[in-house]
Amino acid sequence: MCGIVGYIGKQTAIPILVEGLKKLEYRGYDSAGVAVLDQDGIFVCKSVGKLVALEDKLGDEYPSTSMGIGHTRWATHGRPSDLNAHPHSDCAGDFAVVHNGIIENYMELREWLVEQGHRLVSETDTEVLPHLVEHFYQGDLVTAVRKVLGKIRGAFAMVVLSRSDPDKLVAVRQDSPLVVGLGDGEFFVASDIPAILNHTRKTYILADGEMVILTRNRAEVTDFQGNPLEKDVFEVKWDAVAAEKGGYEHFMLKEIHEQPRAIRDTLLGRLSEYGVELQEVDLTAEEVNHFRKVFIVACGTAWHAGLVGKSLIERWARIPVEVDIASEFRYRSPLIDQETLVVVISQSGETADTLAALREAKRLGAHVVAVTNVVGSSVSREAHDVIYTWAGPEIAVASTKAYTTQLVGMVLFGLYLAQAKGTLSLEKIQAIVTALKELPGQAQEVLHRAAVIEKLAKSFVKVEDTFFIGRGLDWAVAMEGSLKLKEISYIHAEAYAAGELKHGTLALITEETPVIGIATQMDVYEKTLSNIKEVKARDAKVIGIAFEGNNDIHKSVDEVIYLPKTVSELAPILTVIPLQLLAYYASVARGCDVDKPRNLAKSVTVE
Ligand code: AGP
Repeated sequence: MCGIVGYIGKQTAIPILVEGLKKLEYRGYDSAGVAVLDQDGIFVCKSVGKLVALEDKLGDEYPSTSMGIGHTRWATHGRPSDLNAHPHSDCAGDFAVVHNGIIENYMELREWLVEQGHRLVSETDTEVLPHLVEHFYQGDLVTAVRKVLGKIRGAFAMVVLSRSDPDKLVAVRQDSPLVVGLGDGEFFVASDIPAILNHTRKTYILADGEMVILTRNRAEVTDFQGNPLEKDVFEVKWDAVAAEKGGYEHFMLKEIHEQPRAIRDTLLGRLSEYGVELQEVDLTAEEVNHFRKVFIVACGTAWHAGLVGKSLIERWARIPVEVDIASEFRYRSPLIDQETLVVVISQSGETADTLAALREAKRLGAHVVAVTNVVGSSVSREAHDVIYTWAGPEIAVASTKAYTTQLVGMVLFGLYLAQAKGTLSLEKIQAIVTALKELPGQAQEVLHRAAVIEKLAKSFVKVEDTFFIGRGLDWAVAMEGSLKLKEISYIHAEAYAAGELKHGTLALITEETPVIGIATQMDVYEKTLSNIKEVKARDAKVIGIAFEGNNDIHKSVDEVIYLPKTVSELAPILTVIPLQLLAYYASVARGCDVDKPRNLAKSVTVE
């Protein structure tokens, strides 16, 4: 997830571009750059690091021309560096492009461009875009861009400028946000509303498949084929701070609602009709069959994702898996050798305990695969292989979209290992792939039920103790639900294997103790239901979570949150969403600081 801006009008462009990028740094901040026209062609200035590094590089000497584009990056393909920063240009420097998204078929396009004689210098997927414009340009920028759109696949919001077309910016949107700011004799385009709010509140919200051609006196919107489209003006009522949160009250709620997109982006380019393709993992079938054991090592929410990963890898790839809390791992003399595969999971990629565990695993001879959300993070640089989650920057301390995309990463890697070992039939693999493709839409369906959960959460205002119970994968998700509630509402919560309650903890269950009973794992459903009845018999208020079509759980609980039906192995990705929302609304109801809960930090870079 990156931030892109464009400006054409009567003011000097660069200060407006930089100001807009500052408002978009929450979307990515590992490098930044601008491109404007000047008398010699296109002036490009870009720098690794936060936006302040770009400002230092720009200084006070830059062209005063009034058209340009800018970008603040959240690296996907290619580590953070000056060279990989946007804008990207073609061979002759006639075009400059900024892009947010993932060009799925960039490798084949890159090879084709090199065969055509183009020189590409960065590691990014984006750089194919200006070279494609260069290839197709025959005097009209709009026509050239339309031809490029016929060649690329994936998610993209991009803005293109040309030194041969000094009075025009062309921007397109496909699966990445883009808004147009409508000024007086000036126009803006940006990934998000905050970037333009200081200049105008009148906007067009572009939809997928739409293009806008900006000149100094017009914003013309068409489809990708060039058919004109009428757009309603959207008047922005938000203030600047609210706008950074996309109109949501907190980053956490915004990030909960970003999960359908984050899940879709993490799947992008990794599924085929034959199963999973993880081009970024360089393990041969022989090497995979060489592994005798897997360790999954992480902290907090990432550790909870590892619990799901254990179940999937053991079920699908038939390799024994241990899941370790990173702060314990290296002090327990783990039995690791060259036949061991270690998976470290870390949203930030900087958690000290997880990084230390990675280094210990490598020292002992293991092959290390990292699952992380930050390109260029320490774990991504030190692991042998990296599976990125494409959740985009996660600002709230409480991890939400990172967790669900970590689960997607665990599903993808579990299938990858099973494919290499031949332990799953093609039919089973295809069934899981089909279910994966439905997840973003199903996650959206769950989010549409947020109001029901908000109402339920209000009953938690004075609650002091809560239990989350489940069996198998439901127990793993119960762990995550318990942490979410604890860390942002300060309500004491515990997750319990449903079958274990009667061995002591049941003594704590009273009418004052709400219990969330998760019952999606149908192989143990009847047993889970009987455990739910045990707590109900102790007068606890019970909220059940089950698949749609379950016609009996409502008889045993006080409330039911129904989920769209998916295969049981994927259920955690949906089950956690109501738990995230419950925690969020309970925290709000109790007046807690949702995005920055007491005593906590987003990334624990100390032991
Ligand atoms: C989860 O909501 C917390 N923010 C915390 O448990 C977090 O998951 C843990 O600190 C691990 O962070 P990492 O994924 O960046 O390594």
